[in-house]
Order: sequence, then structure tokens, then C-alpha cells
Amino acid sequence: TTIYVPRDSAAVSVGADAVAEAVRTQAEARGLDVRLVRNGTRGMLWLEPLLEIDTPEGRVGYGPVEPHQVAEILDNPDHELKVGLVDELKWMKDQTRLCYKRVGVTDPLSADDYLANGGMAGLRNALEMDKAEVVKAVTDSGLRGRGGAGFPAGIKWNTVLNTPGELKFVCCNADEGDSGTFADRILIEGDPFCLIEGMAIAAYATAATEGYVYLRSEYPDAVKTLRQAIEIGYARGWLGENILGSGLKFDLYVRVGAGAYICGEETSMLESLEGKRGMVRAKPPIPAITGLFGKPTVVNNVLTLASVPSILADGAEAYAALGMGRSLGTQVFQLAGNIARGGVYETAFGMSLAELINEYGGGTRSGRPVRAVQVGGPLGAYLPADRLDIPLDYEAFAAADAMLGHGGVVVFDDTVDMAAMARFAMEFCAEESCGKCTPCRVGSVRGVETIDKIVAGQDTDANLAVLNDLCELMTDGSLCAMGGLTPNPVLSALKHFPDDFAVRTPRAS
Ligand code: NAI
Ligand code: SF4
Repeated sequence: TTIYVPRDSAAVSVGADAVAEAVRTQAEARGLDVRLVRNGTRGMLWLEPLLEIDTPEGRVGYGPVEPHQVAEILDNPDHELKVGLVDELKWMKDQTRLCYKRVGVTDPLSADDYLANGGMAGLRNALEMDKAEVVKAVTDSGLRGRGGAGFPAGIKWNTVLNTPGELKFVCCNADEGDSGTFADRILIEGDPFCLIEGMAIAAYATAATEGYVYLRSEYPDAVKTLRQAIEIGYARGWLGENILGSGLKFDLYVRVGAGAYICGEETSMLESLEGKRGMVRAKPPIPAITGLFGKPTVVNNVLTLASVPSILADGAEAYAALGMGRSLGTQVFQLAGNIARGGVYETAFGMSLAELINEYGGGTRSGRPVRAVQVGGPLGAYLPADRLDIPLDYEAFAAADAMLGHGGVVVFDDTVDMAAMARFAMEFCAEESCGKCTPCRVGSVRGVETIDKIVAGQDTDANLAVLNDLCELMTDGSLCAMGGLTPNPVLSALKHFPDDFAVRTPRAS
């Protein structure tokens, strides 16, 4: 029998290693012939550690499992923790998994598993096409940057392809700093070869020969897994001098950040990769033309690159047939905060935010009513409970003065203090500002002070006017998205939850 116990950091943080150890010792004690596979998480984080036993009908799940329950499960397959066939669970069955196709299914470091589950089909197809054809396929698929800004990936690649240069780079932004986002990490820990394949395709398409994954130091398990996967990739001929015998040369390196949020901004990331302090560069020039060490550089997020193999394997048309409007294909949404069932859920664009939160997330964990939802990280707007009908679509979110961003969804119940959340946004900006421009560096500090004065009832009207002015200045005058987007959570909190800014009487919690 094959038994699966995830090895990714989400599962390990709630005891998966101890469960795996119990599987080993209990199987041995019973003389059972068990093959233990440490897979990635399936993304149903409320069930972790999720133990799966392979049966002729499929993989049967049990979770969340404590180590002492392993013996009981081995003795009684109908144990009360049984959740049934994992692939048949509504959460799994209703998803459209393209980017996350293999996550949770395979052993992340088994190259054979990768090949047996469709791996390398995209790169093989790409290598038989002209570079420009590969770029066109990515453009036709409608794939947009999944890091948050949603810029069309094919157009970016086209700029790099058409910019002359002896040396070009592909840089993967894995500095997933947004609160409530963890899809990059789960992909890297659950299916690192998919990222490697996507980067090799990007390299081929744009004539780049070197790649870097900029990975945050807060993700030590992902760093380790990716480094191991790269080593295996070299041994398998998926990286290096003569990839898949095609003559393609592509070397891939991991660089670990030191914990600054701003290093997720692409130009800061490039500075950091060059060994300098992570400070934002003015754009233009864009990195596609003048990027790493001044060379043409593709900078894409993990999920953008990990979406590419399936596009090249199954065709641009199949990808573009999913989604709505100009938001095509799928996005890996992340459910976090006060939510009953947190985790990752990959689906075509177009589902409503309410459906995602209620139908799949199961509403709040506390059981109290949802009051606010923040989508797109700490710089995203807060939406009130009566605005959750918006479809998950870049343009629909923009029309609602909100932002889909990297697909992180953080839910708050009715005990949340929205003035405190607005204050937090300014405080976060003050903490993480790179300091290059005044509206962000000074504006955020003044923002915290001003919100404090408002809730203390000090010249409320005058200070509300100051706060609005500050936000306008930060939006218009900041050099990058850090200062430029911080007003989003602040102004949305003011607009939808004005009562929370009234003079403090402590809220019940
Ligand atoms: P942006 O709109 O300035 O740029 C988008 C991308 O398109 C960049 O890579 C830019 O270089 C590229 N680009 C623009 N014109 C181009 C052209 N003609 N040819 C080729 N490439 C071109 O947005 P930015 O500042 O890169 O990202 C802001 C977003 O980042 C926010 O919306 C936010 O959602 C997201 N974000 C994500 C985080 C995460 O943890 N994933 C953290 C913080 C912010
Ligand atoms: Fe730096 Fe903030 Fe200016 Fe961005 S907006 S360049 S983080 S000071």
C-alpha cells in the first residue's frame, strides 16, 4: 500500500512529520508493506495533516490526523477521521487545476512522478516551435502576470525577445510578501519541477540563458526543496547545457532574500539580486529592456511561470477558453484569515467572491457574520459584506476600486476594528518603505499619527481632511506600488466603515 503524508511547511507546521514517523513505525510493527510518499499539500489546509491511503478506488483521506491516531486508522479504515476519496471531495472536484495539476498528487522531488503526470510535455512542445511562436502562444492564451499587476505575460516576453542582447535573464519573483498569500510557496514545495519547466520555456522563448529564483528567507523549506529539485533537474538534463537534447542552454540559481517586503517589487528585487540594498529603481526603463545587470530580463511571478507548461502542453486556445473578459485561464486563490476552510483553490476567473468564501471557504471560522474582506494583499482594498457579489476578474475588481492582485483573500468577521486595520496599512507602509520617495516614507508615518488623532477625537474633521489629502498625495506621488497603493485599504475602510473612525469606545471582541 502507498500512504501519503504531506511534507510541505503548512502540513509540517501542524505535525505532519510526526504523523509520517508514526506511519513508518506502526506499519513496521504490523508487518505491513507500506510505501510512504511525502507529497505536497492538497491545499485543504484545515485537514492537515491529511493522510491518504491508496486503494483500488482511489486515494482515501483522513484528517486532521494526530500521530497517535495513525495506528487506529491502520487498524480501522472507516476511522471517524475518514473524509472519503480525496479527488471526489467537492473542494477538489470543483477546481480547475492547471497550474496546481500535480500539487499534492505527486512526490515533489520525484522526476519520474513528474514525467508520469504530464511533466515536460510543455517544454518538449515549445522546443519544437520557433521562439516567436512560443511567445505568441503565451500571448494568445491571455495569461496575465499572476504576481498582482496582471500585465500580459506574452507581451512582456515579446519585449525581451525583441530586445537585442548577448546575455538575457529570466527572474522568478518568489518573494511572496503579501499577507494572506501562500500559493507560490505551496507550488514550490509541492511541484518545483513545474516552475523549473516554466522558466526553461521562458528562457527558450526569449533567448535567455540564465535564470534566478528570488526566494524569501521566510520560506526555508521551499528554498531547500527548490535547491534539491534544481540539482535533480541538472542530473535529468532539464537544466544545463543541452536541455532535452535540444541544444538549449539554461542555468538556474536560487537567491534568498533577507526579509524586506519591498524586495518583491521587481526593480528592488533586481537590485537585491545584484547584491545591493533593495531599493526601487525608477521605471522606465522597464526590466524587459534594462533589467538584471542592465540586461533584458523577464521578471515573472511563480504562478505565471508555473502556468506556462500547461499552456504549451495543451494549447493556448484551451487556456483562453477559461475565464471571463480579459481575465483568462485560472488563478490559484488563497483563502485565509477568519475562514472555516482555509487553503488554496484554483479555478477559472469569473466565480463570485461570495461563492469562493461561503461555498468553498465555509464562511468565517468564528461562525460570526463576515464584515470585511481584503483581496490582493495588504495594499488591497477592504470590501464590505454586501459587495462580495463581484466576480473574480481583474477588471471587475478595478471597477469596484479594489484589486484582485495575487489572489489572496483575507476574511474578517464583525468583531474587526476597521480603523485599526487602516492604521495597520499605514504602519506597514512606514515599516516596509524603502525610503526613496517622500510621499511614502513620510506620508505613511504621518498617516499613522493622523488616524490616531481621528480615533482620539482630536480635531476630527480637520484630521479626516488631512488623511484624505495624504492618501491623494501618496497615490499620485509615490514611485512604486508600496506607497501608491497603501491608500487603498485606508480609503476603503473610511468609505465603507466610517463608524469605526468615530471616537473610541472599546469594541466588544
Ligand atoms: P506595474 O503595473 O508597474 O508592472 C507590471 C509588469 O509589467 C512589470 O513587470 C513591468 O515591468 C511590466 N511592463 C509594463 N509595461 C511593459 C511593456 N511595455 N513591456 C514589457 N513589460 C512591461 O506593476 P508592479 O509595480 O510590478 O506590481 C504591482 C502589483 O504587485 C500590485 O498590483 C500588487 O498586487 C502586486 N504585489 C504583489 C505582491 C506579492 O506578494 N505577490 C506583493 C506586493 C505587491
Ligand atoms: Fe520606496 Fe515607498 Fe517610494 Fe516605493 S513608494 S520607491 S517603497 S519610498
